[in-house]
Amino acid sequence: MKGVILAGGLGTRLYPLTHVTNKHLLPVFDKPMIFYPIETLVKAGVTDILIVTSGPHVGHFLSVLKNGKELGVTHLEYAYQEKPDGGIADALSLARDFVDRDSVAVILGDNTTDANISKAVKSFSDGAMIFLKEVTDAQRFGVAEFDPKDPSKVIGIEEKPKNPKTNMAVTGVYIYDNTVFELIHKLKPSDRGELEITDVNNIYIKSGKMKWANLDGFWSDAGTFTSLYRSNRYWAQKNENDIV
Ligand code: DAU
Repeated sequence: MKGVILAGGLGTRLYPLTHVTNKHLLPVFDKPMIFYPIETLVKAGVTDILIVTSGPHVGHFLSVLKNGKELGVTHLEYAYQEKPDGGIADALSLARDFVDRDSVAVILGDNTTDANISKAVKSFSDGAMIFLKEVTDAQRFGVAEFDPKDPSKVIGIEEKPKNPKTNMAVTGVYIYDNTVFELIHKLKPSDRGELEITDVNNIYIKSGKMKWANLDGFWSDAGTFTSLYRSNRYWAQKNENDIV
Protein backbone atom coordinates (compact mmCIF):
# COMPACT_ATOMS: atom_id res chain seq x y z
CA MET A 1 0.00 0.00 0.00
CA LYS A 2 1.17 3.52 -0.80
CA GLY A 3 0.85 6.48 1.60
CA VAL A 4 -0.29 10.01 0.78
CA ILE A 5 -0.19 13.00 3.11
CA LEU A 6 -2.21 16.02 2.07
CA ALA A 7 -0.48 19.20 3.13
CA GLY A 8 -1.83 21.81 0.72
CA GLY A 9 -4.19 24.67 1.57
CA LEU A 10 -3.11 28.12 2.69
CA GLY A 11 -3.66 27.70 6.43
CA THR A 12 -5.48 31.04 6.57
CA ARG A 13 -7.10 30.12 9.87
CA LEU A 14 -3.62 30.20 11.40
CA TYR A 15 -2.54 33.62 10.12
CA PRO A 16 -0.15 35.23 11.08
CA LEU A 17 1.71 31.98 11.95
CA THR A 18 1.32 30.64 8.42
CA HIS A 19 2.96 33.75 6.97
CA VAL A 20 6.17 32.27 8.42
CA THR A 21 5.92 28.75 7.05
CA ASN A 22 3.50 26.11 5.80
CA LYS A 23 0.90 25.08 8.42
CA HIS A 24 2.14 21.50 8.41
CA LEU A 25 5.64 22.54 9.45
CA LEU A 26 4.49 24.44 12.53
CA PRO A 27 5.54 22.83 15.82
CA VAL A 28 3.37 20.34 17.65
CA PHE A 29 5.36 20.00 20.89
CA ASP A 30 8.83 18.88 19.81
CA LYS A 31 8.45 18.30 16.08
CA PRO A 32 6.87 19.71 12.93
CA MET A 33 3.17 18.81 12.56
CA ILE A 34 3.74 16.68 9.45
CA PHE A 35 6.06 14.29 11.32
CA TYR A 36 2.99 12.85 13.08
CA PRO A 37 1.09 11.60 10.01
CA ILE A 38 4.36 10.36 8.51
CA GLU A 39 5.06 8.39 11.70
CA THR A 40 1.52 6.97 11.69
CA LEU A 41 2.06 5.63 8.17
CA VAL A 42 5.56 4.31 8.86
CA LYS A 43 4.34 2.57 12.05
CA ALA A 44 1.73 0.82 9.88
CA GLY A 45 4.40 -0.37 7.45
CA VAL A 46 3.57 2.20 4.77
CA THR A 47 6.94 3.69 3.83
CA ASP A 48 6.43 4.69 0.18
CA ILE A 49 4.98 8.17 0.67
CA LEU A 50 3.86 11.16 -1.42
CA ILE A 51 3.32 14.58 0.16
CA VAL A 52 0.96 16.92 -1.69
CA THR A 53 1.57 20.54 -0.83
CA SER A 54 1.11 24.10 -2.07
CA GLY A 55 1.37 27.73 -1.05
CA PRO A 56 4.27 30.13 -0.71
CA HIS A 57 6.48 27.98 1.55
CA VAL A 58 6.63 24.68 -0.33
CA GLY A 59 10.44 24.74 -0.42
CA HIS A 60 10.56 24.43 3.37
CA PHE A 61 9.42 20.78 3.19
CA LEU A 62 12.61 19.67 1.47
CA SER A 63 14.90 21.22 4.04
CA VAL A 64 12.92 19.71 6.92
CA LEU A 65 12.16 16.23 5.54
CA LYS A 66 14.90 15.79 2.95
CA ASN A 67 14.43 12.26 1.54
CA GLY A 68 12.50 11.09 4.61
CA LYS A 69 15.05 8.47 5.70
CA GLU A 70 15.42 9.92 9.20
CA LEU A 71 11.73 9.14 9.73
CA GLY A 72 11.87 5.62 8.31
CA VAL A 73 10.46 6.55 4.89
CA THR A 74 12.01 4.42 2.15
CA HIS A 75 10.77 6.54 -0.77
CA LEU A 76 9.50 10.12 -0.54
CA GLU A 77 7.90 12.13 -3.32
CA TYR A 78 6.34 15.57 -3.46
CA ALA A 79 3.48 16.91 -5.59
CA TYR A 80 2.39 20.52 -6.01
CA GLN A 81 -1.32 21.43 -5.86
CA GLU A 82 -1.79 24.40 -8.19
CA LYS A 83 -5.03 25.56 -6.61
CA PRO A 84 -4.10 25.52 -2.92
CA ASP A 85 -7.74 25.36 -1.79
CA GLY A 86 -9.02 23.09 -4.59
CA GLY A 87 -10.17 20.66 -1.93
CA ILE A 88 -8.92 17.51 -0.27
CA ALA A 89 -10.11 15.30 -3.14
CA ASP A 90 -8.36 17.60 -5.64
CA ALA A 91 -5.13 17.22 -3.66
CA LEU A 92 -5.56 13.44 -3.59
CA SER A 93 -6.11 13.32 -7.36
CA LEU A 94 -2.47 14.38 -7.81
CA ALA A 95 -1.39 11.05 -6.34
CA ARG A 96 -2.81 9.02 -9.24
CA ASP A 97 0.46 8.18 -11.00
CA PHE A 98 2.27 7.66 -7.72
CA VAL A 99 -0.32 5.18 -6.41
CA ASP A 100 -0.48 3.47 -9.80
CA ARG A 101 -2.36 0.15 -9.36
CA ASP A 102 -1.91 -0.01 -5.61
CA SER A 103 -4.28 0.98 -2.80
CA VAL A 104 -3.59 4.08 -0.72
CA ALA A 105 -3.63 5.18 2.92
CA VAL A 106 -4.33 8.92 3.11
CA ILE A 107 -3.78 11.19 6.11
CA LEU A 108 -4.48 14.91 6.31
CA GLY A 109 -1.27 16.71 7.16
CA ASP A 110 -2.78 18.58 10.09
CA ASN A 111 -4.12 15.46 11.82
CA THR A 112 -2.16 13.91 14.67
CA THR A 113 -3.04 10.62 16.33
CA ASP A 114 -1.41 7.91 18.38
CA ALA A 115 -3.75 5.27 16.95
CA ASN A 116 -2.17 2.26 15.28
CA ILE A 117 -3.73 1.64 11.86
CA SER A 118 -1.53 -1.38 11.02
CA LYS A 119 -4.36 -3.92 11.29
CA ALA A 120 -6.61 -1.96 8.94
CA VAL A 121 -3.76 -1.47 6.46
CA LYS A 122 -2.84 -5.16 6.48
CA SER A 123 -6.40 -6.46 6.15
CA PHE A 124 -7.52 -3.93 3.50
CA SER A 125 -8.59 -5.49 0.21
CA ASP A 126 -10.96 -3.21 -1.73
CA GLY A 127 -13.48 -0.38 -1.41
CA ALA A 128 -12.69 2.25 1.21
CA MET A 129 -12.27 2.64 4.94
CA ILE A 130 -12.86 5.65 7.19
CA PHE A 131 -11.89 6.09 10.82
CA LEU A 132 -14.38 7.74 13.18
CA LYS A 133 -13.89 9.45 16.50
CA GLU A 134 -16.39 10.70 19.06
CA VAL A 135 -16.05 14.49 19.50
CA THR A 136 -17.83 17.31 21.31
CA ASP A 137 -17.59 19.81 18.42
CA ALA A 138 -18.98 17.75 15.52
CA GLN A 139 -20.03 20.86 13.53
CA ARG A 140 -16.35 21.34 12.59
CA PHE A 141 -16.06 17.98 10.80
CA GLY A 142 -17.54 15.49 8.41
CA VAL A 143 -20.10 13.68 10.56
CA ALA A 144 -21.24 10.07 10.14
CA GLU A 145 -24.89 9.06 10.16
CA PHE A 146 -25.89 5.48 11.07
CA ASP A 147 -28.73 3.22 9.97
CA PRO A 148 -31.38 3.35 12.72
CA LYS A 149 -32.11 -0.35 12.05
CA ASP A 150 -28.43 -1.31 12.09
CA PRO A 151 -26.36 1.15 14.14
CA SER A 152 -23.13 -0.46 12.96
CA LYS A 153 -23.82 0.69 9.40
CA VAL A 154 -22.77 4.16 8.20
CA ILE A 155 -25.39 5.43 5.73
CA GLY A 156 -23.98 8.86 4.96
CA ILE A 157 -21.60 11.65 5.90
CA GLU A 158 -22.52 15.31 6.23
CA GLU A 159 -19.75 17.89 5.86
CA LYS A 160 -19.77 20.41 8.70
CA PRO A 161 -23.51 20.17 9.48
CA LYS A 162 -25.11 22.95 11.56
CA ASN A 163 -27.09 20.31 13.44
CA PRO A 164 -24.99 17.13 13.46
CA LYS A 165 -27.03 13.91 13.59
CA THR A 166 -24.32 12.20 15.67
CA ASN A 167 -21.10 13.16 17.43
CA MET A 168 -18.96 10.76 15.35
CA ALA A 169 -16.47 12.81 13.35
CA VAL A 170 -14.81 11.47 10.22
CA THR A 171 -11.11 11.81 10.95
CA GLY A 172 -8.58 12.71 8.29
CA VAL A 173 -7.37 9.11 7.99
CA TYR A 174 -8.70 7.13 5.02
CA ILE A 175 -7.86 4.03 3.00
CA TYR A 176 -8.95 3.73 -0.64
CA ASP A 177 -8.67 1.22 -3.40
CA ASN A 178 -7.54 2.27 -6.84
CA THR A 179 -11.00 3.24 -8.08
CA VAL A 180 -10.82 6.43 -5.98
CA PHE A 181 -9.04 8.29 -8.78
CA GLU A 182 -11.67 7.56 -11.42
CA LEU A 183 -14.30 8.62 -8.93
CA ILE A 184 -12.55 11.95 -8.16
CA HIS A 185 -12.15 12.54 -11.89
CA LYS A 186 -15.97 12.57 -12.21
CA LEU A 187 -16.56 14.74 -9.13
CA LYS A 188 -18.06 18.26 -9.36
CA PRO A 189 -16.89 21.08 -7.05
CA SER A 190 -19.09 21.82 -4.03
CA ASP A 191 -20.78 25.17 -3.32
CA ARG A 192 -17.54 26.38 -1.73
CA GLY A 193 -15.67 25.46 -4.94
CA GLU A 194 -13.79 22.45 -3.55
CA LEU A 195 -13.61 18.81 -4.57
CA GLU A 196 -14.84 17.33 -1.31
CA ILE A 197 -13.48 14.13 0.24
CA THR A 198 -16.92 13.75 1.86
CA ASP A 199 -18.49 13.43 -1.61
CA VAL A 200 -15.96 10.70 -2.42
CA ASN A 201 -16.77 8.87 0.81
CA ASN A 202 -20.52 9.15 0.22
CA ILE A 203 -20.13 7.50 -3.20
CA TYR A 204 -18.34 4.53 -1.58
CA ILE A 205 -21.08 4.38 1.09
CA LYS A 206 -23.87 4.37 -1.52
CA SER A 207 -22.22 1.55 -3.43
CA GLY A 208 -21.90 -0.50 -0.22
CA LYS A 209 -18.11 -0.49 -0.36
CA MET A 210 -17.28 1.59 2.73
CA LYS A 211 -16.04 0.06 5.97
CA TRP A 212 -15.37 2.01 9.14
CA ALA A 213 -13.49 1.62 12.41
CA ASN A 214 -13.06 3.65 15.55
CA LEU A 215 -9.76 5.49 15.67
CA ASP A 216 -8.43 4.35 19.03
CA GLY A 217 -6.38 6.71 21.15
CA PHE A 218 -5.86 10.45 20.80
CA TRP A 219 -6.85 12.23 17.59
CA SER A 220 -7.05 15.92 16.76
CA ASP A 221 -6.64 18.20 13.81
CA ALA A 222 -4.44 21.24 14.32
CA GLY A 223 -5.84 23.68 11.79
CA THR A 224 -7.23 26.27 14.20
CA PHE A 225 -5.54 27.97 17.14
CA THR A 226 -7.66 25.97 19.59
CA SER A 227 -6.99 22.59 17.97
CA LEU A 228 -3.30 23.43 17.47
CA TYR A 229 -3.07 24.24 21.17
CA ARG A 230 -4.96 21.03 22.07
CA SER A 231 -2.58 18.94 19.97
CA ASN A 232 0.48 20.62 21.48
CA ARG A 233 -0.86 20.09 25.00
CA TYR A 234 -1.62 16.40 24.40
CA TRP A 235 1.76 15.54 22.88
CA ALA A 236 3.64 17.57 25.47
CA GLN A 237 1.86 15.78 28.32
CA LYS A 238 2.32 12.38 26.70
CA ASN A 239 6.05 12.91 26.26
CA GLU A 240 6.89 14.89 29.38
CA ASN A 241 4.81 13.78 32.32
CA ASP A 242 5.97 16.71 34.44
CA ILE A 243 4.41 19.34 32.15
CA VAL A 244 1.19 20.75 33.60
O1 DAU B 1 -9.73 16.80 10.21
C1 DAU B 1 -10.79 16.04 9.72
C2 DAU B 1 -11.69 16.85 8.80
O2 DAU B 1 -10.87 17.34 7.70
C3 DAU B 1 -12.86 16.01 8.26
O3 DAU B 1 -13.75 15.68 9.31
C4 DAU B 1 -13.62 16.76 7.18
O4 DAU B 1 -14.58 15.90 6.62
C5 DAU B 1 -12.65 17.22 6.08
O5 DAU B 1 -13.33 18.00 5.10
C6 DAU B 1 -11.54 18.06 6.68
O6 DAU B 1 -12.11 19.26 7.18
P1 DAU B 1 -11.23 20.59 7.45
O7 DAU B 1 -12.09 21.79 7.42
O8 DAU B 1 -10.42 20.39 8.68
O9 DAU B 1 -10.27 20.60 6.19
P2 DAU B 1 -9.15 21.65 5.82
O10 DAU B 1 -9.64 22.51 4.74
O11 DAU B 1 -8.64 22.32 7.08
O12 DAU B 1 -8.01 20.71 5.26
C7 DAU B 1 -7.39 19.71 6.05
C8 DAU B 1 -6.06 19.34 5.43
O13 DAU B 1 -6.25 18.86 4.08
C9 DAU B 1 -5.08 20.50 5.33
O14 DAU B 1 -4.28 20.52 6.50
C10 DAU B 1 -4.30 20.21 4.09
C11 DAU B 1 -5.19 19.33 3.24
N1 DAU B 1 -5.75 20.07 2.08
C12 DAU B 1 -6.91 20.79 2.19
C13 DAU B 1 -7.44 21.48 1.10
C14 DAU B 1 -8.73 22.25 1.23
C15 DAU B 1 -5.06 20.03 0.86
O15 DAU B 1 -4.00 19.39 0.78
N2 DAU B 1 -5.57 20.72 -0.20
C16 DAU B 1 -6.75 21.45 -0.15
O16 DAU B 1 -7.16 22.01 -1.17
